[in-house]
Amino acid sequence: MRIDIITCLPKLLESPFNDSILKRAQNKGLVEVVVHDLRDYSEDKHKKVDDYAFGGGAGMVLMIEPIAKCIRELKDQRVYDEIIYMSPDGENFSQGIANELSLKKNILILCGHYKGVDERVRENFITREISIGDYVLSGGELAAAVVSDAIIRLLPGVLGDETSALSDSFQDGLVAPPVYTRPAEFEGLKVPDVLLSGHQKKIEDWRFEQSVKRTQLRRPTDSK
Ligand code: ADE
Repeated sequence: MRIDIITCLPKLLESPFNDSILKRAQNKGLVEVVVHDLRDYSEDKHKKVDDYAFGGGAGMVLMIEPIAKCIRELKDQRVYDEIIYMSPDGENFSQGIANELSLKKNILILCGHYKGVDERVRENFITREISIGDYVLSGGELAAAVVSDAIIRLLPGVLGDETSALSDSFQDGLVAPPVYTRPAEFEGLKVPDVLLSGHQKKIEDWRFEQSVKRTQLRRPTDSK
């Protein structure tokens, strides 16, 4: 899989992809993440990529020209399954969307900034708009990193234990059950006996029960 990300702040996207699971996934050749600096596509001598909003109002708007140039150049090289714009008014990101996107071959993500992006970009180049929650970030970069992380960890071979992504919270519509590790007792705080019983069926049943209880408590609207 390949993920291209267009941003005017490429530095913000350096570290998320340069450590741990995401770095290993790239080193193993399971995913290629390529960050494009929007300023490289500006025709302006000062590398300007934004301008004042027509009609007035505070905040700058990302201009269509550099974005169109960048997207067109990328589209000349490969076919994108989705061209995503990160925006607080997009559809709310979920495990279901991460699952769906993890099956694609090429994804292009455009990060918004300032007051957003010229509406003509959204209307003519974008196939999908995604929000990571009902709050406003300074830009789409961190949101793009969140979405990419959720996708990449689902790719076959990325996680050591193939089953671990499937047992994540939300994969079965339930939040994950509590987990414990050594020591079995810490200052009188004990790990539930069932987890030490060695009885796999009882452990599975207990985990399922805990997941259901937690989902009812923490996501009451999702519980049937
Ligand atoms: N850009 C700014 N805020 C955002 C959000 N909540 N989700 C996605 N992109 C954004």
